[in-house]
Amino acid sequence: MRLTISQIQQMKEKGEKIVMLTAYDYLSAKLIDEAGVDVILVGDSLGMVMLGYDSPIPVTMEEMLHHTKAVVRGSRRALVVGDMPFMTYQVEMGEAIRNAARFIQEGGAQAVKLEGGQNIAETVKRLVSCGIPVMGHIGLTPQYMHQLGDYAARGTSRESALRLLEDARALQAAGAFAIVLESVPADLATIITRVLAIPTIGVGAGPDCDGQDQVVSDILGLGTEFVPKEISKRYASLGDAIKRAISDYVKEIKAVTFPTREHSYPIAPEIVRELEDLALAD
Ligand code: KIV
Repeated sequence: MRLTISQIQQMKEKGEKIVMLTAYDYLSAKLIDEAGVDVILVGDSLGMVMLGYDSPIPVTMEEMLHHTKAVVRGSRRALVVGDMPFMTYQVEMGEAIRNAARFIQEGGAQAVKLEGGQNIAETVKRLVSCGIPVMGHIGLTPQYMHQLGDYAARGTSRESALRLLEDARALQAAGAFAIVLESVPADLATIITRVLAIPTIGVGAGPDCDGQDQVVSDILGLGTEFVPKEISKRYASLGDAIKRAISDYVKEIKAVTFPTREHSYPIAPEIVRELEDLALAD
């Protein structure tokens, strides 16, 4: 049975930390789910991590749905959240509802995530009224990168900290079941977490959020991009291990040390002889 949004809410009430991980494919989802992660976010960071774009802006609904379906197939217990791509929920309400519904109906996700605060509260309200659970996302919101200008922390000035607090309140009032706080000072995240009844999920937001999110390739050391220590921690160096394994493979193929005859299927010698005779006769 998958976790539900009410069980995620109960985790906050019981003081049990919520573990979220951003992932994009069947294989990772299976491992992550078996390891006990509570929520898998199919993030639009897909664009950079898996598809090689230089931002999440070009990511399409079709790409997100393709990966969401794979994550849903790979997981059994985790709540799966699909990240709505840039401009799929801002233009018009009907379009936002239709696109969010596609994540649930076609993608098999149990919830969607939207970036923004007071500016998207009305959309959150409508989606929730249609039965679509919504996770909010404030702080550093990469879909707004052309407006923000950089990937620096948010909520570091008095004005922006107050704005984030109001954004969080607006999302909760609109019915969001949880809010991601990305790259905000720990003290601000602590206050927002205390003020809200719904869970906060931090990424680069200190230890006091109700839960934490990381990108799977970052914690496994698979990416080549530098990720600041304020945001992420490496639990393995799989990128190096994979490179070593693949260069061993390259060496063995070149040297014909793999595959050997032991790695092949047997065939009766008389069939081989007959085939050789036939081949020679041609
Ligand atoms: O796309 C993503 O992975 C995200 C998380 C970092 C919250 O939005």
